[in-house]
Amino acid sequence: MKIDISNVYPFLDESKVTQAIEETKSSLNTVLHRSGAGSDFLGWLDIPQRDDFSLGGYSLDTIREVAEEILDKNATLVCIGIGGSYLGHKMAIEALKPYTDRILFAGQNISAEHLQHILDVIEEREEVYLNPISKSGTTTEPGIAFRVLRKWLENRYGAEEAGKRIIATTDASKGALRELADARGLRTFPVPDSVGGRYSVLTPVGLFPIAAAGIDIVRVLEGARAAVKPCTKADQDNPALEYAALRAALLQHGKAIEILSTFNPRLRYFAEWWKQLTGESEGKEGTGLFPASAVFSTDLHSLGQWIQEGARNIFETFLIVEHSDQHVTLESAEENADNLNYLAGKTFDEINRKAYEGTAQAHTDGEVPNLTVSIDRITEHSLGELIFFFEMTVAITGYRIGVNPFNQPGVEAYKTNMFRLLGKPGV
Ligand code: PA5
Repeated sequence: MKIDISNVYPFLDESKVTQAIEETKSSLNTVLHRSGAGSDFLGWLDIPQRDDFSLGGYSLDTIREVAEEILDKNATLVCIGIGGSYLGHKMAIEALKPYTDRILFAGQNISAEHLQHILDVIEEREEVYLNPISKSGTTTEPGIAFRVLRKWLENRYGAEEAGKRIIATTDASKGALRELADARGLRTFPVPDSVGGRYSVLTPVGLFPIAAAGIDIVRVLEGARAAVKPCTKADQDNPALEYAALRAALLQHGKAIEILSTFNPRLRYFAEWWKQLTGESEGKEGTGLFPASAVFSTDLHSLGQWIQEGARNIFETFLIVEHSDQHVTLESAEENADNLNYLAGKTFDEINRKAYEGTAQAHTDGEVPNLTVSIDRITEHSLGELIFFFEMTVAITGYRIGVNPFNQPGVEAYKTNMFRLLGKPGV
């Protein structure tokens, strides 16, 4: 993983960048010394550094064993969760197994159409398992979806067999899902107390579905481990420190919106995961960057106009994959009716690269500061690196802008209103 900040210099000169990094070192230390608000939720920092990559009552072997059971049967796994109990594994599976149709997602909305679609799909599948995921065990969206899907599973297989096909990921001791799982003797994975939802992708929350998709979770964790050293050292070439410092400095200079732009559609959900990580961690107390995302070149034909010439309160982080796994080369055509022979012999990767370079230059000219985070290929290892890198940057930025990056008090407001409108007892 590399970071290139040269297109920030036209907007923040080198001395300002150096100063911003110096001023952010204490926020890095707040994370590392666990001395800031919310420091009880820094378990994600430990996971890649632990010998067994595990924290609090589960083992990777057990996760892989249950995942193997699902893989051996070529079974469909319906993951039921929302927010941090959805986006981490969704993004990893989209990045590493983009075309799998064996892992389905429910409970991330309250759409009857979506749930009915999932029911229609699993009706046609022979082997179906459910993985309700909720740290609190009380979240409404996955709760109601799980109730419907559990009924379907019991009708299909009978109560006893259905019980063997539900693997619940939840708190080790409390919450409605824990109680239900214990009462029915379901298999469970615990969510470590010290890891909040949006930082939980490398706990059983994300690891079990990722493994069930056939992805090597150890390699993902090894990738995260490889990022620990560079992203925790206290000098200028710590990429997480550098990026966090620039984000906070650009916010201070009125750049209130950060757009994470990728030219690889396999990273679409990586951006969704990042938006939750950033939005819930930083957006509070009247501050924080608003995280937006774009998948280019598709979105250059929609959002591109706004980015080029709209309000100048944005900056951009390009997330670039240097080489894709496929080589498609444009051939020369005898008649050249489409006038594209000038591209003959070029691969799609080469053309995509030039689209990125042209876009970065155009956006710089359009007064959009931009920086680039790049990986060579999308692999388990590079994804693990990116996960740890972005988690670190968000934690550091949060402390730098003066908020607790590990709470989310604002998400309660809509819930209270919804419960009141629905007549929930006691609300
Ligand atoms: O990051 C968070 O803490 C939230 O987005 C939660 O993950 C989300 O609200 C789901 O919560 P739970 O896992 O308790 O169902």
